[in-house]
Amino acid sequence: MDSFLAWENPSVLDCDRMRFYITTAIDYPNGRPHMGHAYEKVITDVYARWNRMLGRETFFLTGTDENGQKLIKAAEEAKEETLSYVDRQVDVFRDLCRSLKISNDDFIRTSEPRHHKVVQWLWKRLDDRGEIYQGDYEGWYCLACENFYTEMQAEDMKCPVHQSPLEKVKEKGYFFRLSKYESWIKEYIAENESFIVPNSARKEMLQRIKSDPIRDLSVSRPNAGWGIPVPGDEKYVVYTWFDALINYYTAVKDKSFWPAQVHVIGKDITWFHTIIWPAMLKAADLEIPEQIYVHGMVLGQDGRKMSKSLGNGVDPLEVIANFPIDSFRYYLLRAIPSGQDGAFVTQDLVMRHNNELANDYGNLLMRVVKLTMKKFGTEITPETVANKLNLDKLGDEMQDAMERREHHRALEKLWEKVNEINLYLNQEEPWKIKDDPGKLKEVLYNALSGIQVVGFYVKAFMPNVSQKTLESLGCPETTQADLVFGKQTFQLSEPEMIFPKIEVASADA
Ligand code: ME8
Repeated sequence: MDSFLAWENPSVLDCDRMRFYITTAIDYPNGRPHMGHAYEKVITDVYARWNRMLGRETFFLTGTDENGQKLIKAAEEAKEETLSYVDRQVDVFRDLCRSLKISNDDFIRTSEPRHHKVVQWLWKRLDDRGEIYQGDYEGWYCLACENFYTEMQAEDMKCPVHQSPLEKVKEKGYFFRLSKYESWIKEYIAENESFIVPNSARKEMLQRIKSDPIRDLSVSRPNAGWGIPVPGDEKYVVYTWFDALINYYTAVKDKSFWPAQVHVIGKDITWFHTIIWPAMLKAADLEIPEQIYVHGMVLGQDGRKMSKSLGNGVDPLEVIANFPIDSFRYYLLRAIPSGQDGAFVTQDLVMRHNNELANDYGNLLMRVVKLTMKKFGTEITPETVANKLNLDKLGDEMQDAMERREHHRALEKLWEKVNEINLYLNQEEPWKIKDDPGKLKEVLYNALSGIQVVGFYVKAFMPNVSQKTLESLGCPETTQADLVFGKQTFQLSEPEMIFPKIEVASADA
């Protein structure tokens, strides 16, 4: 386990690598949070928690994107003043984070003065460098995407994402010299394999640059009383994407945290994060993020994108009300392979909860602790026991998968070990050992040690389960260094049922 431990030893690494700054995209709060929002937060949380476990100084940011025109429209529809509408909506997104056990260190709102200040500072910096100019804009706008499309991108002048009619825009405004950075970004993406993961997303961006040359970007909209005024020209506000991307830079008060190690985003917004954002930073002479990790889309049961009009959406707040949070997190992380699209099917969640969590994990913990308490009382010491399970490589194997941003593989590795412990018990049948206390102790001590190891590594994925597991073994403060076989004396207490089985019918209720 040396290599896993090495992260905790600053002398082995330079200080930069000990920092880990990770972000989610910031959500549009113009409706209820949807499954995609929950999914992205859970994924990002796992990487943040995992890196904290590695001993890295971690900063995890999430938040809301509030300056777009669609917020004005949503507030109008709700017959409310824009700010009070947005305030109310944002509370629901904060609640979602709390309910999902998201360990974010900050929650940024782009309506906050701290953000306005940084956006205006960056605008001026770009302007001073000649990276922004005035011109006439003519193009097609989709309000839902808050994005401009060219005639080539939008057939029949319909939004390629929403299929809704695009609004023709012809106005004076400001432009950012994005086209100037075309060959630089193309080369950067081609040469840096880990800049965009998975590789399929990287290839898609390279292909897109090849087939559709990068144009300068319109970065202002007429000021309708909402958004961030363009410095020195208040007839305009800053185009919402241009301002939203800057949130990642705003939030780090201590700029030694910059650049971010990972921006976690969905595949529909890869262009903004891998082309526009790096070019803005390069133009401002700031460092670019180390990695953009692109996750897939959560689909409806019918395999199509979840949407209101298709009626195939599952509301994350309803799932949270009906299932243990950790089961929901486990399902999202295990059932949808990282970087790919995957359907959310409630029946699948029930099956995985009942089989992989209640049977394989919950029963294992329960039967080992109960049997040990019956045979040895509450304390079991390591004397005279030999190591029978091979768990030494688990941390490193999981770390390899996590570094490749393959959290579903890390969970698979963990569950292989859960199954190995179950198999070991079924082979040794400690409940049948009558006259060999030494052997009985060895089997139960090995099983408890195995449970301590999985209980520790599961922490990033299912924090409640990890805590309850380690508490029932009497070692709630377990660190990676404690996982050396034979180090621990277990002080047992009967665990509560961590995964009560769910009846299929009640899951539908
Ligand atoms: O795009 N499955 O906000 P947003 C998985 N404000 N992820 C999904 C998803 C789905 N079905 N639908 C959306 C925005 N997402 C901007 C971001 S960042 C500077 C500005 C993901 O509320 C989506 O890809 O529409 C994005 O990463 C996040 O949810 C927020 O989407």
